[in-house]
Amino acid sequence: MRILVTGGAGFIGSALCRHLINETQHEVINFDKLTYAANLDSLKTISDNPRYRFVQADICDRGAVDAAFREHKPDGIIHLAAESHVDRSIDGPGEFIKTNVMGTYTLLDVANAYVRDGKKGFRFHHVSTDEVYGSLGDTGEFTEETAYAPNSPYSASKASSDHLVRAWHHTFHLPVVMTNCSNNYGPYHFPEKLIPLVLLRGLDGKELPVYGKGDNVRDWLYVDDHARALALVFEKGADGEKYNIGGHNEVTNIKVVEMICDLLDELAPKSFKHQDLIRFVQDRPGHDKRYAIDASKIERELGWKPRETFETGLRNTVTWYLENRWWWEAIQARYAGQRLGLAKK
Ligand code: NAD
Ligand code: DAU
Repeated sequence: MRILVTGGAGFIGSALCRHLINETQHEVINFDKLTYAANLDSLKTISDNPRYRFVQADICDRGAVDAAFREHKPDGIIHLAAESHVDRSIDGPGEFIKTNVMGTYTLLDVANAYVRDGKKGFRFHHVSTDEVYGSLGDTGEFTEETAYAPNSPYSASKASSDHLVRAWHHTFHLPVVMTNCSNNYGPYHFPEKLIPLVLLRGLDGKELPVYGKGDNVRDWLYVDDHARALALVFEKGADGEKYNIGGHNEVTNIKVVEMICDLLDELAPKSFKHQDLIRFVQDRPGHDKRYAIDASKIERELGWKPRETFETGLRNTVTWYLENRWWWEAIQARYAGQRLGLAKK
């Protein structure tokens, strides 16, 4: 199949493109605007493959989306393009509403016209987040039936996009599948997110900021496990269905940071212990306490299971960053790990 992947130069999108090219026979059209979060270096290993093509364009640009559909005639779309960082959505929500809401609307509208014009077997796979479900207390997990209760501008924009996809299926019978995933981590992760931020600051001997008391919990999923799940849902997911994807790895933030410090002590030792760099800092406004995913539906119905535990995945990740300075040193020129998301003017 020929798949239009939006956001294929981002963290998860690039893992998906690499997976589709290396592990399947699908063709990939990577449609990406190349925002600050994009990195074509993440696609170096596949960019010369004849089954891979790249289009630089904005999903909000109806003309560009139309042209991509006309020129490439995709058999489906896996839609990942988004503004993805919660802290940046606190500092500047506008881009999140534009890309995540209006951009998704534009893609749905073009895809719907394409199907009505006679394209058979097309499907629209919308990639979303567990943050649409809000925050959990000490117990329980998000299922596909959990009511939506987004708390940040980012999650509210993603929830809006999920509702648009649902509505286009219900009203226009556009064939869709949806996935909602927990926190991803792994190689090629932009260093504004907790794990790469702490890793690179730790390597530099800088203070390691932990928001609040560090007792917030995230449910970590290795990005290549996510990429396999996305390909599987695109290929085999039931029409109109939604699947939660998670790695069964609930960990407090302070524990995550301590584990990274221990790996740095082992793999890149310094004269000090990396844990001595940990600092508890002002909390994120509206900080969700706990996320946890019940992934039993995708496991039961499609036979997917994560391959990495948090221990194996985190070791792979730290090792990858140590061995691939060329990738992240280039990014540090435009983002050097400063604090974001305090809602200050
Ligand atoms: P990312 O920020 O690393 O990458 C986003 C990509 O989208 C970038 O390449 C960027 O250039 C592109 N993009 C942004 N605006 C665009 C526009 N208007 N037109 C075209 N391209 C545009 O994001 P990510 O972490 O890889 O997340 C990918 C998707 O997965 C997002 O939809 C996100 O909401 C979702 N998600 C992420 C996580 C996570 O832990 N990272 C977890 C669950 C769901
Ligand atoms: O749950 C899925 C979501 O996971 C995705 O939809 C988002 O796109 C993705 O960015 C991620 O959101 P989080 O807000 O959970 O990820 P982040 O890496 O920003 O933060 C993880 C946790 O670590 C969160 O509780 C905030 C905390 N944190 C973060 C940073 C950047 C810190 O304590 N210190 C930090 O410096």
